[in-house]
Amino acid sequence: MIKIAPSILAADLARLGAEVQEIREGGADYVHFDVMDGTFVPNISMGVPVLKSLRKATDMFLDAHLMVDRPGRYVEQFCRAGADLVNVHVEADNRENLLDALDRIRSLGRKTGVTLKPGTPAEAVLPYLDRVDLVLVMTVEPGFGGQRFMEDMLPKIRQIREWISERQLECELEVDGGVDAETAPLCIAAGADVLVAGSAVFGKEDRGAAIRAIRGTEE
Ligand code: DX5
Ligand code: ZN
Repeated sequence: MIKIAPSILAADLARLGAEVQEIREGGADYVHFDVMDGTFVPNISMGVPVLKSLRKATDMFLDAHLMVDRPGRYVEQFCRAGADLVNVHVEADNRENLLDALDRIRSLGRKTGVTLKPGTPAEAVLPYLDRVDLVLVMTVEPGFGGQRFMEDMLPKIRQIREWISERQLECELEVDGGVDAETAPLCIAAGADVLVAGSAVFGKEDRGAAIRAIRGTEE
């Protein structure tokens, strides 16, 4: 079944523990944790101390999406704070430094991911594809929640799905940005297996119903 990763960027952060409990009861699979540094993206969100507190509040899988310049500087801190998966952008540093960051994440026993911004071609994932547990395709420009889904990213999702299948990799394919009950079926048809959703989950009163609507198990 398709996995749903609500992005807590859209949650009420003053009651983060309760928000996460609600999505857990609502059937969410991962907690998507957006880290923005004000340099790689024009916004600042949350960092290591918040993740550390969240780790104490839940046993859910924490999927940390680092929208951070030269993320290798911080990966150990996120692993030690309790992230289950640490995801770095392919645009955020050179290949050597990113491969080294991925090795360090793995050596701390965490899962690894790489992310592609909308303007980055699918081919940019190839040097990392057999070394990561997850690839994330952005379907909005990173930096803000609540943006419109970019349908022209669907060929990129299909292409990466094809490579994962051809090479028989375990790697999951995640989509992030503007995913809701209308756009989720497009992502699923293109081969995604994890869907991030911020406003489409936390913008709804009934988080469980919102999650089921995105997954396609509720009308
Ligand atoms: C955007 C973040 C997303 C964002 C998604 O920079 O990476 O995870 O929270 O929010 P929605 O689902 O509202 O587009
Ligand atoms: Zn994200």
